[in-house]
Amino acid sequence: MHLTNIYPSLKDKVVLITGGASGIGANLVEAFCAQHAKVAFIDVMDVPAQKLTDYIERKEDSSIPNYYRCDLMDIASLQATIAQIAEDLGPVHVLINNAANDDRHDFKEVTVEYWDERIAVNLRHYFFAAQAVYPQMKELGGGSIINFGSMSWYATHGGMPGYTSSKAAIEGMTRGLARDMGADRIRVNTLVPGWVMTPRQLQNSLADESAREKVRDSQCLNEFVIPENISAMALFLASDDSRMCTSQHFIVDGGII
Ligand SMILES: NC(=O)c1ccc[n+]([C@@H]2O[C@H](COP(=O)([O-])OP(=O)(O)OC[C@H]3O[C@@H](n4cnc5c(N)ncnc54)[C@H](O)[C@@H]3O)[C@@H](O)[C@H]2O)c1
Repeated sequence: MHLTNIYPSLKDKVVLITGGASGIGANLVEAFCAQHAKVAFIDVMDVPAQKLTDYIERKEDSSIPNYYRCDLMDIASLQATIAQIAEDLGPVHVLINNAANDDRHDFKEVTVEYWDERIAVNLRHYFFAAQAVYPQMKELGGGSIINFGSMSWYATHGGMPGYTSSKAAIEGMTRGLARDMGADRIRVNTLVPGWVMTPRQLQNSLADESAREKVRDSQCLNEFVIPENISAMALFLASDDSRMCTSQHFIVDGGII
């Protein structure tokens, strides 16, 4: 963790991160704990979630995150989990809709059931999490919702239409909700990562050196994007320093798009 900025406005704020057990989400959890926020994270991967909690617990100058097991495809369970988080930690001030699944699929093989599943894992829970935290943020007099998009559809990546369609829709959802919630001083933005060197990407899409080289060549900056670079933008968008930023998308991709 190389982040150095401290945002005083994040101290003691309740921050909810979906998909926080691994990948970019795990870095988000660590980054917000380093700001002494009250962090809740949702996931289904119990072992990585516990390992992350143990690791952060050993760190100095950090709050300790709270793990909530919930399958985000089950909206009733998500709503109950968000109610539980508010009861345990207080009203949610920052929601980071991060969890997604970019499993590859051939458009020729997609069934109605598989399409619905792709939308359920990549898009549907973003809306229902935002809906569930809305009254809590309203009660607080404001809040920040950060929806994770992807540069994949800008860059015309194929092989995952359920994912790319969801990621494009998230930007539309962001702008619509920013208008609906703006009167309550709730800000809604999309954070668009480029190709980020997470363990899952390094095992799958970026497993061989030539794939990684291709990514680097497509960027303006000759350096890989790492999760810390994404967390840096998320911290800013969550903090009061971005108080007049809403309804926008913020791209952190080393200059691919
Ligand atoms: N890594 C990249 O290169 C990249 C590029 C563009 C966009 N993004 C976006 O950034 C975000 C994070 O990506 P990542 O690479 O860290 O992903 P990841 O696959 O490494 O991690 C996703 C996390 O979400 C959790 N999750 C998935 N489905 C869930 C469910 N149904 N219920 C509960 N938890 C669930 C997983 O268990 C995992 O911990 C995603 O929105 C992704 O689309 C990532």
